[in-house]
Amino acid sequence: MESIQAPRGTRDILPEEVGYWQKVEAIARQCLHAAAYQEIRTPTFEQTPLFERGIGEATDIVGKEMYSFLDRGDRSITLRPEGTAGVVRAFIEHKLHAQGGTQRLWYTGPMFRYERPGAGRQRQFHQLGVEVLGSQNPRADAEVIALAADILKSLGIEDWTLALNSLGTFDDRQLYREALVSYFEQYKDDLDADSQDRLYRNPLRILDSKDQKTQAIAQDAPHIQDYLCDQSRIHFETVCTLLNILGIPYALDPCLVRGLDYYTHTAFEFKLQELGTQGTLCGGGRYDRLISELGGPDTPAVGWAIGLERLVMLLQDRQPQSPSRIDIYMVARGLLAEQQALFLTKGLQKEGLQVEMDLSGSAFKKQLKRADRSGAPLCLIIGESEAEQDQVQLKWLESGEQDQQNQFELLAEAQSLGRKINLAKSAKRI
Ligand code: HAM
Repeated sequence: MESIQAPRGTRDILPEEVGYWQKVEAIARQCLHAAAYQEIRTPTFEQTPLFERGIGEATDIVGKEMYSFLDRGDRSITLRPEGTAGVVRAFIEHKLHAQGGTQRLWYTGPMFRYERPGAGRQRQFHQLGVEVLGSQNPRADAEVIALAADILKSLGIEDWTLALNSLGTFDDRQLYREALVSYFEQYKDDLDADSQDRLYRNPLRILDSKDQKTQAIAQDAPHIQDYLCDQSRIHFETVCTLLNILGIPYALDPCLVRGLDYYTHTAFEFKLQELGTQGTLCGGGRYDRLISELGGPDTPAVGWAIGLERLVMLLQDRQPQSPSRIDIYMVARGLLAEQQALFLTKGLQKEGLQVEMDLSGSAFKKQLKRADRSGAPLCLIIGESEAEQDQVQLKWLESGEQDQQNQFELLAEAQSLGRKINLAKSAKRI
Protein backbone atom coordinates (compact mmCIF):
# COMPACT_ATOMS: atom_id res chain seq x y z
CA MET A 1 0.00 0.00 0.00
CA GLU A 2 1.33 3.46 -0.87
CA SER A 3 2.25 5.39 2.24
CA ILE A 4 0.58 8.72 2.98
CA GLN A 5 2.89 11.71 3.03
CA ALA A 6 2.54 15.28 4.29
CA PRO A 7 0.73 17.46 1.71
CA ARG A 8 2.95 19.29 -0.80
CA GLY A 9 4.20 22.59 0.58
CA THR A 10 3.88 21.56 4.23
CA ARG A 11 6.58 20.18 6.46
CA ASP A 12 6.96 18.59 9.84
CA ILE A 13 9.08 20.42 12.37
CA LEU A 14 10.91 17.54 13.96
CA PRO A 15 12.36 17.51 17.50
CA GLU A 16 15.92 18.13 16.22
CA GLU A 17 14.77 21.44 14.66
CA VAL A 18 12.24 22.51 17.23
CA GLY A 19 14.92 23.99 19.52
CA TYR A 20 15.45 26.79 16.99
CA TRP A 21 11.72 27.53 16.93
CA GLN A 22 11.56 27.60 20.71
CA LYS A 23 14.55 29.93 20.85
CA VAL A 24 12.95 32.31 18.32
CA GLU A 25 9.65 32.24 20.19
CA ALA A 26 11.26 32.81 23.59
CA ILE A 27 13.41 35.72 22.42
CA ALA A 28 10.55 37.31 20.47
CA ARG A 29 8.28 37.06 23.52
CA GLN A 30 10.91 38.82 25.66
CA CYS A 31 11.29 41.68 23.16
CA LEU A 32 7.52 42.02 22.69
CA HIS A 33 6.89 41.95 26.41
CA ALA A 34 9.48 44.69 26.99
CA ALA A 35 7.86 46.79 24.27
CA ALA A 36 4.42 46.42 25.95
CA TYR A 37 2.77 44.41 23.14
CA GLN A 38 -0.04 42.04 24.05
CA GLU A 39 -0.68 38.71 22.40
CA ILE A 40 -3.84 38.11 20.40
CA ARG A 41 -4.97 34.73 19.05
CA THR A 42 -7.46 34.69 16.21
CA PRO A 43 -8.92 31.69 14.33
CA THR A 44 -6.94 29.90 11.64
CA PHE A 45 -9.91 30.20 9.29
CA GLU A 46 -12.19 33.14 8.61
CA GLN A 47 -15.05 33.98 6.29
CA THR A 48 -13.67 34.37 2.76
CA PRO A 49 -14.95 37.95 2.20
CA LEU A 50 -12.70 39.18 5.03
CA PHE A 51 -9.62 38.45 2.92
CA GLU A 52 -11.23 39.40 -0.41
CA ARG A 53 -12.12 42.83 0.94
CA GLY A 54 -9.11 43.20 3.22
CA ILE A 55 -6.19 42.04 1.08
CA GLY A 56 -7.76 43.03 -2.25
CA GLU A 57 -9.33 41.02 -5.07
CA ALA A 58 -6.62 42.04 -7.53
CA THR A 59 -3.75 40.60 -5.47
CA ASP A 60 -2.09 37.24 -6.18
CA ILE A 61 -2.94 36.12 -2.66
CA VAL A 62 -6.68 36.51 -3.18
CA GLY A 63 -6.72 35.73 -6.90
CA LYS A 64 -4.55 32.62 -6.93
CA GLU A 65 -3.35 31.52 -3.53
CA MET A 66 -6.22 31.19 -1.08
CA TYR A 67 -7.28 27.90 0.43
CA SER A 68 -11.03 28.47 0.21
CA PHE A 69 -13.80 25.93 0.53
CA LEU A 70 -17.48 25.62 1.35
CA ASP A 71 -18.05 24.13 4.77
CA ARG A 72 -20.88 21.76 5.55
CA GLY A 73 -23.17 24.73 6.10
CA ASP A 74 -22.34 26.07 2.61
CA ARG A 75 -20.38 29.02 3.99
CA SER A 76 -17.29 30.10 2.13
CA ILE A 77 -14.34 29.70 4.47
CA THR A 78 -10.66 30.50 3.88
CA LEU A 79 -7.57 29.32 5.74
CA ARG A 80 -5.90 32.59 6.69
CA PRO A 81 -3.18 33.61 4.22
CA GLU A 82 -1.90 36.25 6.66
CA GLY A 83 -2.66 37.60 10.13
CA THR A 84 -3.52 41.29 9.72
CA ALA A 85 -7.09 40.88 8.40
CA GLY A 86 -8.08 38.55 11.27
CA VAL A 87 -6.61 40.88 13.89
CA VAL A 88 -8.51 43.82 12.37
CA ARG A 89 -11.73 41.77 12.31
CA ALA A 90 -11.27 40.93 16.00
CA PHE A 91 -10.43 44.56 16.80
CA ILE A 92 -13.72 45.68 15.24
CA GLU A 93 -15.84 42.78 16.50
CA HIS A 94 -14.75 43.20 20.13
CA LYS A 95 -14.71 47.00 19.94
CA LEU A 96 -11.11 47.14 21.15
CA HIS A 97 -11.10 50.73 19.93
CA ALA A 98 -13.56 51.58 22.72
CA GLN A 99 -10.68 51.13 25.18
CA GLY A 100 -9.15 54.25 23.64
CA GLY A 101 -5.46 54.88 23.09
CA THR A 102 -3.22 52.69 21.01
CA GLN A 103 -3.48 48.92 20.89
CA ARG A 104 -0.17 47.13 20.50
CA LEU A 105 -0.81 43.51 19.51
CA TRP A 106 1.27 40.55 18.41
CA TYR A 107 0.48 37.08 17.13
CA THR A 108 2.09 33.97 15.79
CA GLY A 109 0.79 30.92 14.00
CA PRO A 110 0.39 29.07 10.71
CA MET A 111 -0.70 30.85 7.52
CA PHE A 112 -1.72 29.22 4.24
CA ARG A 113 -1.03 30.21 0.64
CA TYR A 114 -1.29 28.01 -2.42
CA GLU A 115 2.13 28.96 -3.83
CA ARG A 116 4.71 26.94 -5.73
CA PRO A 117 6.75 25.35 -2.93
CA GLY A 118 10.49 26.02 -2.84
CA ALA A 119 13.24 26.93 -0.38
CA GLY A 120 11.64 29.37 2.07
CA ARG A 121 8.27 29.20 0.32
CA GLN A 122 5.62 26.85 1.59
CA ARG A 123 1.89 26.39 1.46
CA GLN A 124 1.65 26.23 5.22
CA PHE A 125 4.14 28.57 6.86
CA HIS A 126 4.36 30.48 10.11
CA GLN A 127 4.46 34.17 10.83
CA LEU A 128 5.22 36.27 13.85
CA GLY A 129 3.43 39.58 13.45
CA VAL A 130 2.71 42.83 15.24
CA GLU A 131 -0.06 45.36 14.66
CA VAL A 132 -0.26 48.80 16.27
CA LEU A 133 -3.81 50.08 15.95
CA GLY A 134 -4.99 53.62 16.66
CA SER A 135 -1.99 55.81 15.97
CA GLN A 136 -1.31 58.01 13.00
CA ASN A 137 1.97 59.16 14.48
CA PRO A 138 5.10 58.39 12.39
CA ARG A 139 6.66 57.33 15.67
CA ALA A 140 4.46 54.22 15.49
CA ASP A 141 6.01 53.35 12.09
CA ALA A 142 9.51 53.85 13.52
CA GLU A 143 8.60 51.89 16.66
CA VAL A 144 7.48 48.78 14.77
CA ILE A 145 10.47 48.87 12.43
CA ALA A 146 12.82 49.23 15.42
CA LEU A 147 11.07 46.35 17.15
CA ALA A 148 11.68 44.03 14.19
CA ALA A 149 15.34 45.12 14.19
CA ASP A 150 15.57 44.44 17.95
CA ILE A 151 14.14 40.94 17.64
CA LEU A 152 16.50 40.10 14.79
CA LYS A 153 19.47 41.55 16.70
CA SER A 154 18.62 39.51 19.79
CA LEU A 155 18.81 36.45 17.55
CA GLY A 156 22.21 37.50 16.21
CA ILE A 157 20.92 38.71 12.83
CA GLU A 158 22.12 42.20 11.99
CA ASP A 159 23.15 42.03 8.34
CA TRP A 160 19.73 42.72 6.82
CA THR A 161 18.95 45.55 4.48
CA LEU A 162 15.80 47.54 5.03
CA ALA A 163 13.96 48.70 1.92
CA LEU A 164 11.61 51.62 2.55
CA ASN A 165 9.00 53.36 0.46
CA SER A 166 5.88 55.44 0.84
CA LEU A 167 2.71 54.47 -0.98
CA GLY A 168 1.00 57.71 0.06
CA THR A 169 -2.70 58.09 0.73
CA PHE A 170 -5.43 56.37 -1.26
CA ASP A 171 -5.83 59.52 -3.37
CA ASP A 172 -2.07 59.79 -4.03
CA ARG A 173 -2.14 56.20 -5.17
CA GLN A 174 -5.04 56.76 -7.56
CA LEU A 175 -3.08 59.54 -9.30
CA TYR A 176 0.05 57.44 -9.37
CA ARG A 177 -1.87 54.46 -10.73
CA GLU A 178 -3.11 56.50 -13.67
CA ALA A 179 0.41 57.73 -14.40
CA LEU A 180 1.73 54.17 -14.28
CA VAL A 181 -0.95 52.83 -16.59
CA SER A 182 -0.23 55.48 -19.20
CA TYR A 183 3.52 54.84 -18.89
CA PHE A 184 3.31 51.05 -19.17
CA GLU A 185 0.70 51.20 -21.94
CA GLN A 186 3.46 52.46 -24.23
CA TYR A 187 5.39 49.21 -23.68
CA LYS A 188 2.43 46.89 -23.37
CA ASP A 189 3.69 44.27 -25.83
CA ASP A 190 7.13 44.11 -24.24
CA LEU A 191 5.85 43.38 -20.73
CA ASP A 192 5.83 39.81 -19.41
CA ALA A 193 2.48 38.03 -19.48
CA ASP A 194 1.76 38.54 -15.76
CA SER A 195 2.48 42.26 -16.00
CA GLN A 196 0.25 42.63 -19.05
CA ASP A 197 -2.45 41.00 -17.03
CA ARG A 198 -1.85 43.44 -14.16
CA LEU A 199 -1.74 46.58 -16.32
CA TYR A 200 -5.27 47.71 -15.52
CA ARG A 201 -6.02 45.53 -12.50
CA ASN A 202 -2.97 46.27 -10.34
CA PRO A 203 -0.32 48.29 -12.20
CA LEU A 204 1.78 48.94 -9.08
CA ARG A 205 2.66 45.26 -8.96
CA ILE A 206 4.39 45.57 -12.35
CA LEU A 207 7.15 47.44 -10.49
CA ASP A 208 7.72 44.26 -8.53
CA SER A 209 8.07 41.99 -11.59
CA LYS A 210 10.98 39.53 -11.59
CA ASP A 211 11.10 39.53 -15.43
CA GLN A 212 14.31 41.24 -16.64
CA LYS A 213 12.78 43.00 -19.64
CA THR A 214 9.89 44.31 -17.52
CA GLN A 215 12.36 45.40 -14.84
CA ALA A 216 14.29 47.42 -17.42
CA ILE A 217 11.07 49.14 -18.54
CA ALA A 218 10.02 49.73 -14.91
CA GLN A 219 13.30 51.53 -14.18
CA ASP A 220 12.09 54.63 -16.00
CA ALA A 221 8.52 54.44 -14.74
CA PRO A 222 7.17 57.42 -12.78
CA HIS A 223 8.09 57.43 -9.08
CA ILE A 224 5.45 57.45 -6.36
CA GLN A 225 7.41 60.19 -4.56
CA ASP A 226 6.34 62.65 -7.26
CA TYR A 227 2.68 61.94 -6.53
CA LEU A 228 2.70 62.29 -2.76
CA CYS A 229 0.66 65.10 -1.23
CA ASP A 230 2.29 67.31 1.42
CA GLN A 231 0.80 65.31 4.29
CA SER A 232 2.20 62.05 2.88
CA ARG A 233 5.60 63.58 2.21
CA ILE A 234 5.89 64.98 5.72
CA HIS A 235 4.84 61.66 7.23
CA PHE A 236 7.45 59.77 5.24
CA GLU A 237 10.23 62.28 5.91
CA THR A 238 9.47 62.08 9.62
CA VAL A 239 9.69 58.27 9.57
CA CYS A 240 13.08 58.56 7.83
CA THR A 241 14.31 61.11 10.39
CA LEU A 242 13.21 58.89 13.27
CA LEU A 243 15.01 55.89 11.78
CA ASN A 244 18.13 58.04 11.44
CA ILE A 245 17.86 59.01 15.10
CA LEU A 246 17.50 55.35 16.08
CA GLY A 247 20.52 54.44 13.95
CA ILE A 248 18.52 52.05 11.77
CA PRO A 249 19.96 52.01 8.25
CA TYR A 250 17.55 51.85 5.30
CA ALA A 251 17.53 52.25 1.53
CA LEU A 252 14.74 54.05 -0.27
CA ASP A 253 13.17 51.76 -2.84
CA PRO A 254 10.57 53.43 -5.07
CA CYS A 255 9.69 50.02 -6.58
CA LEU A 256 8.68 48.51 -3.22
CA VAL A 257 4.92 48.04 -3.48
CA ARG A 258 4.19 44.88 -1.38
CA GLY A 259 1.79 42.14 -2.38
CA LEU A 260 -1.24 43.22 -0.36
CA ASP A 261 -3.51 46.11 -1.33
CA TYR A 262 -4.20 47.58 2.09
CA TYR A 263 -1.04 49.64 2.49
CA THR A 264 -0.93 53.43 2.69
CA HIS A 265 2.11 55.61 3.47
CA THR A 266 5.07 53.62 4.81
CA ALA A 267 5.90 50.21 3.32
CA PHE A 268 9.04 48.29 4.24
CA GLU A 269 10.85 44.97 3.92
CA PHE A 270 13.80 43.50 5.78
CA LYS A 271 15.79 41.44 3.29
CA LEU A 272 18.76 39.10 3.47
CA GLN A 273 20.84 38.10 0.48
CA GLU A 274 21.37 34.65 1.91
CA LEU A 275 17.66 33.92 1.47
CA GLY A 276 18.06 34.17 -2.32
CA THR A 277 14.98 34.83 -4.39
CA GLN A 278 12.82 34.51 -1.27
CA GLY A 279 14.91 37.31 0.23
CA THR A 280 12.25 38.99 2.33
CA LEU A 281 12.31 38.01 5.95
CA CYS A 282 9.90 40.60 7.29
CA GLY A 283 7.40 42.76 5.45
CA GLY A 284 4.97 45.38 6.63
CA GLY A 285 3.71 48.89 6.56
CA ARG A 286 0.94 51.29 7.43
CA TYR A 287 -2.69 50.54 6.58
CA ASP A 288 -4.81 53.52 7.57
CA ARG A 289 -7.94 52.59 5.62
CA LEU A 290 -8.29 48.87 6.28
CA ILE A 291 -10.18 49.12 9.57
CA SER A 292 -12.82 51.50 8.19
CA GLU A 293 -13.07 49.48 4.97
CA LEU A 294 -13.88 46.40 7.03
CA GLY A 295 -16.67 48.27 8.83
CA GLY A 296 -14.83 49.66 11.85
CA PRO A 297 -14.24 53.24 12.92
CA ASP A 298 -11.66 55.27 11.05
CA THR A 299 -8.48 53.97 12.72
CA PRO A 300 -4.92 54.24 11.41
CA ALA A 301 -2.62 51.25 11.92
CA VAL A 302 0.82 49.87 11.14
CA GLY A 303 2.47 46.46 11.48
CA TRP A 304 4.66 43.73 10.04
CA ALA A 305 5.09 39.98 9.84
CA ILE A 306 8.24 37.89 9.91
CA GLY A 307 8.31 34.54 8.06
CA LEU A 308 9.46 32.11 10.74
CA GLU A 309 10.61 29.33 8.37
CA ARG A 310 12.97 31.83 6.76
CA LEU A 311 14.20 33.04 10.13
CA VAL A 312 14.82 29.49 11.34
CA MET A 313 16.64 28.66 8.07
CA LEU A 314 19.02 31.55 8.75
CA LEU A 315 19.65 30.48 12.33
CA GLN A 316 20.30 26.89 11.29
CA ASP A 317 22.88 28.04 8.74
CA ARG A 318 24.59 30.38 11.15
CA GLN A 319 24.31 28.45 14.39
CA PRO A 320 24.61 24.81 13.33
CA GLN A 321 24.60 23.61 16.92
CA SER A 322 20.92 23.18 17.75
CA PRO A 323 20.02 25.01 20.97
CA SER A 324 20.42 22.43 23.72
CA ARG A 325 17.23 20.63 24.46
CA ILE A 326 18.22 19.15 27.79
CA ASP A 327 20.53 19.88 30.71
CA ILE A 328 21.63 16.42 31.78
CA TYR A 329 21.86 13.01 30.17
CA MET A 330 21.69 10.23 32.78
CA VAL A 331 23.58 7.01 32.15
CA ALA A 332 23.46 3.91 34.37
CA ARG A 333 24.13 0.19 34.20
CA GLY A 334 23.32 -2.54 36.72
CA LEU A 335 20.18 -3.02 38.80
CA LEU A 336 21.07 -0.83 41.82
CA ALA A 337 22.66 1.82 39.61
CA GLU A 338 19.56 2.02 37.41
CA GLN A 339 17.29 2.36 40.46
CA GLN A 340 19.47 5.15 41.82
CA ALA A 341 19.52 6.83 38.38
CA LEU A 342 15.72 6.89 38.37
CA PHE A 343 15.64 8.38 41.88
CA LEU A 344 18.30 10.98 41.04
CA THR A 345 16.61 11.89 37.73
CA LYS A 346 13.29 12.52 39.46
CA GLY A 347 14.99 14.56 42.19
CA LEU A 348 16.87 16.77 39.73
CA GLN A 349 13.76 17.24 37.58
CA LYS A 350 11.90 18.46 40.67
CA GLU A 351 14.63 21.09 41.06
CA GLY A 352 13.79 22.36 37.57
CA LEU A 353 16.57 20.67 35.60
CA GLN A 354 15.82 18.94 32.30
CA VAL A 355 17.11 15.42 32.68
CA GLU A 356 16.84 12.61 30.15
CA MET A 357 17.48 9.11 31.40
CA ASP A 358 18.90 6.47 29.06
CA LEU A 359 16.53 3.49 29.25
CA SER A 360 18.46 1.08 27.05
CA GLY A 361 20.51 -0.75 29.69
CA SER A 362 23.12 -1.14 26.93
CA ALA A 363 26.90 -0.95 27.35
CA PHE A 364 28.31 2.31 28.78
CA LYS A 365 30.06 3.09 25.49
CA LYS A 366 26.75 3.12 23.61
CA GLN A 367 24.99 5.14 26.29
CA LEU A 368 27.82 7.69 26.33
CA LYS A 369 27.60 8.06 22.55
CA ARG A 370 23.93 8.91 22.92
CA ALA A 371 24.84 11.38 25.67
CA ASP A 372 27.17 13.14 23.20
CA ARG A 373 24.46 13.28 20.57
CA SER A 374 21.87 14.60 23.04
CA GLY A 375 23.54 18.03 23.10
CA ALA A 376 23.32 18.09 26.92
CA PRO A 377 26.28 19.85 28.52
CA LEU A 378 26.46 17.35 31.38
CA CYS A 379 26.31 13.56 31.59
CA LEU A 380 25.76 11.82 34.91
CA ILE A 381 27.06 8.26 35.14
CA ILE A 382 26.26 5.61 37.74
CA GLY A 383 28.01 2.25 37.45
CA GLU A 384 27.97 -0.65 39.90
CA SER A 385 30.93 0.63 41.93
CA GLU A 386 29.47 4.16 42.17
CA ALA A 387 26.09 2.71 43.16
CA GLU A 388 27.56 0.80 46.10
CA GLN A 389 28.91 4.05 47.56
CA ASP A 390 25.96 6.32 46.57
CA GLN A 391 28.31 8.14 44.22
CA VAL A 392 27.74 9.60 40.76
CA GLN A 393 30.26 10.61 38.09
CA LEU A 394 29.85 14.00 36.41
CA LYS A 395 31.18 14.30 32.86
CA TRP A 396 31.13 17.75 31.21
CA LEU A 397 30.70 16.79 27.59
CA GLU A 398 32.20 19.86 25.93
CA SER A 399 35.47 19.94 27.94
CA GLY A 400 35.66 16.26 28.88
CA GLU A 401 36.25 17.36 32.50
CA GLN A 402 35.22 14.66 35.01
CA ASP A 403 34.36 14.66 38.68
CA GLN A 404 32.68 12.47 41.30
CA GLN A 405 30.16 13.38 43.99
CA ASN A 406 27.82 11.88 46.53
CA GLN A 407 24.33 11.56 45.01
CA PHE A 408 22.54 13.25 47.93
CA GLU A 409 25.02 16.11 47.96
CA LEU A 410 24.47 16.58 44.22
CA LEU A 411 20.72 16.80 44.81
CA ALA A 412 21.18 19.30 47.63
CA GLU A 413 23.35 21.46 45.36
CA ALA A 414 21.06 21.20 42.32
CA GLN A 415 20.62 24.98 42.06
CA SER A 416 24.32 25.70 41.73
CA LEU A 417 24.63 22.77 39.30
CA GLY A 418 21.87 24.42 37.23
CA ARG A 419 23.87 27.66 37.08
CA LYS A 420 26.98 25.79 35.90
CA ILE A 421 24.92 24.04 33.21
CA ASN A 422 23.49 27.34 31.98
CA LEU A 423 26.99 28.79 31.76
CA ALA A 424 28.14 25.79 29.71
CA LYS A 425 25.08 26.13 27.47
CA SER A 426 25.60 29.83 26.81
CA ALA A 427 29.33 29.32 26.12
CA LYS A 428 28.36 26.84 23.40
CA ARG A 429 26.00 29.23 21.66
CA ILE A 430 27.23 31.75 19.11
P1 HAM B 1 3.77 39.36 3.62
O1 HAM B 1 4.89 40.15 3.03
O2 HAM B 1 2.79 38.77 2.69
O3 HAM B 1 3.05 40.33 4.64
O4 HAM B 1 4.37 38.21 4.52
C1 HAM B 1 5.30 38.49 5.55
C2 HAM B 1 6.41 37.46 5.55
O5 HAM B 1 5.85 36.15 5.61
C3 HAM B 1 7.25 37.43 4.29
O6 HAM B 1 8.24 38.43 4.31
C4 HAM B 1 7.86 36.05 4.36
O7 HAM B 1 8.98 36.03 5.23
C5 HAM B 1 6.74 35.23 4.98
N1 HAM B 1 6.03 34.47 3.93
C6 HAM B 1 5.08 34.91 3.09
N2 HAM B 1 4.66 33.92 2.27
C7 HAM B 1 5.37 32.82 2.60
C8 HAM B 1 5.41 31.47 2.12
N3 HAM B 1 4.59 31.04 1.14
N4 HAM B 1 6.28 30.62 2.70
C9 HAM B 1 7.11 31.02 3.70
N5 HAM B 1 7.10 32.29 4.20
C10 HAM B 1 6.26 33.18 3.66
C11 HAM B 1 1.96 39.99 5.39
O8 HAM B 1 1.56 38.86 5.50
C12 HAM B 1 1.35 41.15 6.13
N6 HAM B 1 0.20 40.65 6.89
C13 HAM B 1 2.36 41.81 7.04
C14 HAM B 1 1.79 42.98 7.79
C15 HAM B 1 1.36 42.98 9.07
N7 HAM B 1 1.58 44.16 7.30
C16 HAM B 1 1.04 44.93 8.22
N8 HAM B 1 0.89 44.21 9.30
